[in-house]
Amino acid sequence: GWKMEDILEKELKVIKETVGPDNHVICALSGGVDSTVAATLVYKAIGDRLHCAFVDNGLLRYKERERVMETFDRDLHLPVTCIDATDQFLSKLKGVTEPEKKRKVIGNEFICIFDAFARDLEKKLGKKPAYLVQGTLYPDVIESCPPPGSGRTHSHTIKSHHNVGGLPKDMKLKLIEPLKLLFKDEVRELGRIMGVPVSFLKRHPFPGPGLAVRVPGDVTEGNRLDILRKVYEFRKYKQCKNIQQFNIFFHSLCCTCQADEIFIQAIKDAGIYDSIWQAFAVFMPVLTVGVQGDQRTHSYAIALRAVTSHDGMTADWYYFDYKFLADLSTRICNEVQGVNRVLLDITSKPPATIEWE
Ligand code: XMP
Repeated sequence: GWKMEDILEKELKVIKETVGPDNHVICALSGGVDSTVAATLVYKAIGDRLHCAFVDNGLLRYKERERVMETFDRDLHLPVTCIDATDQFLSKLKGVTEPEKKRKVIGNEFICIFDAFARDLEKKLGKKPAYLVQGTLYPDVIESCPPPGSGRTHSHTIKSHHNVGGLPKDMKLKLIEPLKLLFKDEVRELGRIMGVPVSFLKRHPFPGPGLAVRVPGDVTEGNRLDILRKVYEFRKYKQCKNIQQFNIFFHSLCCTCQADEIFIQAIKDAGIYDSIWQAFAVFMPVLTVGVQGDQRTHSYAIALRAVTSHDGMTADWYYFDYKFLADLSTRICNEVQGVNRVLLDITSKPPATIEWE
């Protein structure tokens, strides 16, 4: 069979030959395993002629930007430009409620921003970058566009994954997709032999549209837009004792972000992170009645989703220990202001998808 060392050597050779001795290459890093491994591979092949960008769309998890930038810099020495585009994304998302529309808006905005990055680079280099690296995997290819004879009969889009076929049309860049024939576990193995930290390679996948697909409906509703920008400072909101004051600061992304951080940390502490394909919190835009202290509350719910899977195409819900769930529920209700109910998603894929939108 194929040894990963052989695949690595072959890929490096193909990338060097494809790019040639003078061309420059650009890459959008999402902070996920796939784009990071793809970029590391291309960096190994052509060095500083690779130029990466990481876009903060304001829909990332708690401290995500700081965490991934540190890995790129300290562990991988990748040349990465960090672009804060929170305002652009959130203003474009205003009033958008339909899941596929959200993905399109986010995908289009991403293309605009990445296009500007490429143009800036062109000015600096005095020539156009010729290639774009994408971390497309085999399952992405078949889920977006099932090949004939694959046994998959749907001809409509189930979910448009913006990172497949999301190339700006007038950019005239050629694609390099070095992971196109690999499954997830093979990508992790490839990353490992190139020295990508194992803890990074074991990270759960995170969708490009981020928390936008984990907050059903309009993520910017009401005055949330202003507040969303402060998503990383959620600890500050906890300090608002006065509920009136809290309402001013309250927003769905903040709750999701905080509950998610508590959930993931608990999973890591229990030593079960690596047995789970993906785990996250989903904001439920439903007000239900509760009682906290001697106060009646009318607050939102948080759903917890954790699944096992081999490739994300099918999935089973994860069987947590009851004690673990009980403690988690208590913690989330105590610590996340504006949440008085915790739900567990016990649906597999199919019939559900992994994400809620
Ligand atoms: P679903 O929800 O379709 O998810 O069962 C399967 C896997 O794909 C991820 N996912 C996305 N990834 N852009 C992405 O980059 C998207 O729009 C998107 N939607 C879902 C999801 O997190 C899971 O790993």
